Amino acid sequence: MPTIAIVGAGPGLGLAIARTFGSRGFDVALIARTKDKLETLVAQLGKEGITAEAFPADVLDRPSLTTALEAAADRFGGIDVLEYSPAPHSPVPGLSMAVPSEVTVDNLQPQIEYNVYGALAAAAAVLPAMRQAGAGTLLFTTGGGSVHPVPMLGNVNAAAAALRNWVLNLHNELAGSGVHAAHVAITAWIGEGGPEGIPSATPEQIAPLYWELYEHRDQPELVFNG
Ligand SMILES: NC(=O)c1ccc[n+]([C@@H]2O[C@H](COP(=O)([O-])OP(=O)(O)OC[C@H]3O[C@@H](n4cnc5c(N)ncnc54)[C@H](OP(=O)(O)O)[C@@H]3O)[C@@H](O)[C@H]2O)c1
Repeated sequence: MPTIAIVGAGPGLGLAIARTFGSRGFDVALIARTKDKLETLVAQLGKEGITAEAFPADVLDRPSLTTALEAAADRFGGIDVLEYSPAPHSPVPGLSMAVPSEVTVDNLQPQIEYNVYGALAAAAAVLPAMRQAGAGTLLFTTGGGSVHPVPMLGNVNAAAAALRNWVLNLHNELAGSGVHAAHVAITAWIGEGGPEGIPSATPEQIAPLYWELYEHRDQPELVFNG
């Protein structure tokens, strides 16, 4: 069976992506910091007939992320699709938000570590085997501010834009290799209870984009507008 590894797997988008691929024959490796929360998702997916397993790791602790992805590849016989979408719903030490005029090395660096370096480490753990196989998919997610920045997310958007730029260029580099890299930008609040005036969407409305990218294999980017 093919396998998807979801880095930053939570009850929102992560679970919806797991269901989207799992219901189409994929095994699922779930990666996030909290084992208990991952085990809840594993049980939920199991009830739906989807084989999933938890591989706890922190994207800010890159060796732990590499180890988790290696363990997932060992367990499932390889990783066919990597999806990267951690979100700091519970506090992540060092992460804060700053308007552009207040962005500093100190509040940008952790966002770069979270958005960019974590993604680089995840890709590095799976790309060599994908290249060797001449097949594989690398999907990376940011908010719509990576494309159209908003002042309240000055540091977050700068780091997300760096990730987006790298992914689009990785897409270019990998053209013709059989490995496909793509970026998803989400211009919406996911779930209920978002700020007034901000469009919202359910994870189930967004997750099909990932399957579309996986199937069509030619697009560098999809933007979801809520
Ligand atoms: N939520 C929104 O309104 C929104 C809007 C636009 C774009 N997005 C994008 O959508 C994706 C997230 O979707 P979602 O909000 O529905 O989240 P989700 O899939 O429900 O959960 C994301 C998970 O990331 C994990 N995580 C946080 N920090 C981590 C770390 N340092 N290392 C490893 N895992 C970590 C958290 O679990 P632990 O706490 O257990 O680690 C959390 O459960 C992100 O790419 C985000 O940029 C979200």
